[in-house]
Amino acid sequence: MVKIDNIELPDFPLLLAPMEDVSDPPFRALCKEQGADVVYTEFISSEGLIRDAAKSVMKLDIYEKERPVGIQIFGANMESMLQTIDIVEKSNPDIIDINFGCPVKKVVSKGAGAGILKDVCLMEQLTAEMVKRTNLPVTVKTRLGWDHDSIKIVEVAERLQDVGCKAISIHGRTRAQMYKGNADWKPIAEVKNNPRMHIPVFGNGDVNTPERALEMRDSYGLDGAMIGRASIGNPWFFKQVKHFFETGEHLAPISMVERVEAARRHLQMSIDWKGEKLGVFETRRHYTNYFKGIQDFKEYRMKMVTSDESKDVFDTFDEVLDKFADYQFEQQF
Ligand SMILES: Cc1cc2nc3c(=O)[nH]c(=O)nc-3n(C[C@H](O)[C@H](O)[C@H](O)COP(=O)(O)O)c2cc1C
Repeated sequence: MVKIDNIELPDFPLLLAPMEDVSDPPFRALCKEQGADVVYTEFISSEGLIRDAAKSVMKLDIYEKERPVGIQIFGANMESMLQTIDIVEKSNPDIIDINFGCPVKKVVSKGAGAGILKDVCLMEQLTAEMVKRTNLPVTVKTRLGWDHDSIKIVEVAERLQDVGCKAISIHGRTRAQMYKGNADWKPIAEVKNNPRMHIPVFGNGDVNTPERALEMRDSYGLDGAMIGRASIGNPWFFKQVKHFFETGEHLAPISMVERVEAARRHLQMSIDWKGEKLGVFETRRHYTNYFKGIQDFKEYRMKMVTSDESKDVFDTFDEVLDKFADYQFEQQF
């Protein structure tokens, strides 16, 4: 069993990664239903929360059914981050996660996200003070280092653990790499193999097949896998991995009935959460992936992504089921 503080998780838990504009409550709920053991919100700006910016505040919403859920925040200013803790606590998450890994310029230039990898002392102090401020478990998500020449993740992880961080998720790339090249899991395994480490060490980056997840578990010995892009348009990825772990075989392709059902529920939850207009608009980006690679599907995809009324989108789902219910999808892995 793996534990984040008092939160008990199964062996080798699968975590849904925080992803901006993707990991919202409806998507998290779908991933949870399909086997994600922990889900994280997209990152939320501490400065935005303090200013009460509506977009940031809305990101604090969580459904009971998605627990355990971590709210991820980013920032570099101590006072703002501490005030943010007080705001975040009101949403009653199970975990507060600090983003020390975002590589984008507008975040890094303010010393936040991966920017803090240049100042490990501040990273340690921020974590220490945030841990003191809350009774909730504080976890950290970070990268291997700022660039290839400054990788000291073994030392960084130990220092964070020593100030009370309860789990660490490490993306196997440096900030300089952004998303280029392959994620390197070796330094993450070195963190795990440090005999002083006792908190869970989760690996992240390029877990895109059940085989890769198995490799992370058996060859690298990590405590769990955090999964991002492989779940976009495929919330079933979690159950596909778990099925493979249990049977050594791949799950049969996800049927059209399951895909339509997921798309329907995704749209309905989005409308319930954000309202008709935004719900219809923002769920559009998911359909392409839900219905990837289907022949003669263009007409339906176009209707899904251009209709302004949910009723028309739901009608299109019905039409798809009428026409394609028995569509034979290719084996995905
Ligand atoms: C669309 C998108 C949005 C992301 N937003 C965040 C974020 O808000 N916070 C964060 O820590 N990482 C964010 N990430 C990084 C992912 O959490 C993850 O570390 C990265 O995608 C590597 O994992 P993967 O190969 O499984 O996708 C984002 C990634 C993507 C693709």
